[in-house]
Amino acid sequence: MQAVRSFVQEIRRTLRCFSGGNEHASRVLCVLDQIDLSESNQHYRTPGEPLHGRDLRQAIDGMPRSLEKLASALRNALPELQWRVDRGTYYETNADVGDGYRNGSMHCELIGPHGSAFHHGDFTLGLFLLTPRLLYRDHAHRAPELYLTLMGPSGWRFDGGKWRDVPPGTIIWNEPETSHATRVYDKPFLSIYSWTRDVHSKCRIVPRGDWSQIEAALSAANP
Ligand SMILES: [Fe+2]
Repeated sequence: MQAVRSFVQEIRRTLRCFSGGNEHASRVLCVLDQIDLSESNQHYRTPGEPLHGRDLRQAIDGMPRSLEKLASALRNALPELQWRVDRGTYYETNADVGDGYRNGSMHCELIGPHGSAFHHGDFTLGLFLLTPRLLYRDHAHRAPELYLTLMGPSGWRFDGGKWRDVPPGTIIWNEPETSHATRVYDKPFLSIYSWTRDVHSKCRIVPRGDWSQIEAALSAANP
């Protein structure tokens, strides 16, 4: 588990580097600076081959040079990480999450209350992966959320506005109850995520009329 601890410490260092004084990243850093990373707060979880292991390795190999140290710490930690597919932990019952999220996502909670490597009752930090050519549909939640993109470009829209692409190393901040959606192109999407409070609140889907069109266009790019 030493490699997981080193990885969390590298995430902290990377966030400090990339935050550029971003107040939201500072909020995450503040908790990370206080979190108990000792063995007494560590919970071993049986690692296993992740469902989307090939995409994960491709994403790590594609991380830019500016994130090289983080990629290296992540590679070292891989044999100790437990990846999960959301089967209803995070969304309201019967939420229309779509096939993209249902079949093409996985996450690894490093800090949090859901059986993660290090326990915290109301804060989460982890890794989130989406496989190529999918739409992560518009959704919102009470928890404030930070992403640090590790691969890209990825497409984002907020409150149903115009799409914009962001490169790896971008900090995305989602205010409570603000809807957001993500488009993944021909490379897998990998990010650090953090919910800074209200982590037991559920996500709700925010329906938009263009999902089918976007999903069809993304999947038509399939070779
Ligand atoms: Fe979110």
